[in-house]
Amino acid sequence: MTVDTLGRSLGDLRISVTDRCNFRCSYCMPKGVFGRDYEFMPRDELLTFEEIASVAAVFADLGVSKVRLTGGEPLLRRNLADLVGMLTALDVEVAMTTNASLLDRHAQALADAGLSRVTVSLDSVDDETFREMNDVDFPLASVLEGIDAAVAAGLSVKLNTVVKRGVNDDGILAMAERFRGTDHIVRFIEYMDVGHTNGWRMNEVVRAADIVATIGARYPLEPVEANYRGEVARRWRYTDGEGEIGVIASVTQPFCGDCTRARLSAEGKLYTCLFATSGTDLRAIVRKQDADNEQDTELRTSVEAIWANRTDRYSELRTDNTGRLPKIEMSYIGG
Ligand code: GTP
Ligand code: 5AD
Ligand code: SF4
Ligand code: SF4
Repeated sequence: MTVDTLGRSLGDLRISVTDRCNFRCSYCMPKGVFGRDYEFMPRDELLTFEEIASVAAVFADLGVSKVRLTGGEPLLRRNLADLVGMLTALDVEVAMTTNASLLDRHAQALADAGLSRVTVSLDSVDDETFREMNDVDFPLASVLEGIDAAVAAGLSVKLNTVVKRGVNDDGILAMAERFRGTDHIVRFIEYMDVGHTNGWRMNEVVRAADIVATIGARYPLEPVEANYRGEVARRWRYTDGEGEIGVIASVTQPFCGDCTRARLSAEGKLYTCLFATSGTDLRAIVRKQDADNEQDTELRTSVEAIWANRTDRYSELRTDNTGRLPKIEMSYIGG
């Protein structure tokens, strides 16, 4: 087993397939930070599906059993279902995090290729607030259609709701109510200081404990054991049996102690923390013209060494000042 300096094994790989997104959520890719718009990676910088699959195969060999596709918005990458097929062939579970804007037209092909679960980022069930938060005036109804299409295709669906004080915290109860009694678990996420563009401030964070209290006051909740060690969300169930919610409290209750996640950027850099400042260029290894096909061995050795030396625990060390340290953006590394 591949274990880091704090005894954490390598369990999950999160693969960003593009740094582009058609939304401009203020907590992730706010408009107007870089003049006209973001500068995205040129296409030939991106790993091809074949290259992604060969990197993923090495991770699977090292014990990774869960792969999550992220972005930016992963469905902006053409023929993504082909990649899903290549990854499921490695005998790993494949999930995806998406804003669901394009999900209605792709859900069936993704499910057919072996995708098992989708997590849909949805910050509000109030159309006006939702349009404001995605900042491209994207309608709520289209996201709900995407969710319906995913369900019809047999995919299991969770929701991610980032809560920002003064923006959507008045809709916490409505969000919970909308999905209460369905199979869809809503996970409320504390707004995090990822990247720099969002101008994060602690007073914009709504504490997970307050989110649980708000919902619990109307619909009593009780805590539930984690599904597996290292689960990011803390689970709470409605005492009347109408399902469960989760809270992801990376600010007030960090979970670095069990963090088993590695992250691969769209251009093939490996990061061992969401808050990392630099990554290791695996693409350089994958693209080596090597007659003996030694790339896989080199990749394996490199990944093993990086993981063995891993010390990351940013969320546990966070202070008012760490926010100023250099960091990569969420849209680059994918939540
Ligand atoms: P499940 O397999 O469904 O349990 O997925 P997950 O909870 O690992 O995945 P998801 O991508 O839905 O994660 C939800 C959110 O939690 C992300 O979008 C991030 O905001 C946050 N998150 C996930 N992993 C980490 C992490 O390693 N560190 C921190 N600080 N936040 C994380
Ligand atoms: N804080 C918390 N979660 C974030 N996400 C993006 N930016 C942030 C942030 N600053 C989440 C989104 C989405 C996933 C890709 O990352 O909600 O679910
Ligand atoms: Fe796009 Fe997701 Fe970031 Fe919003 S949170 S801008 S949908 S990548
Ligand atoms: Fe893992 Fe880094 Fe998040 Fe801690 S801050 S849980 S080490 S990704």
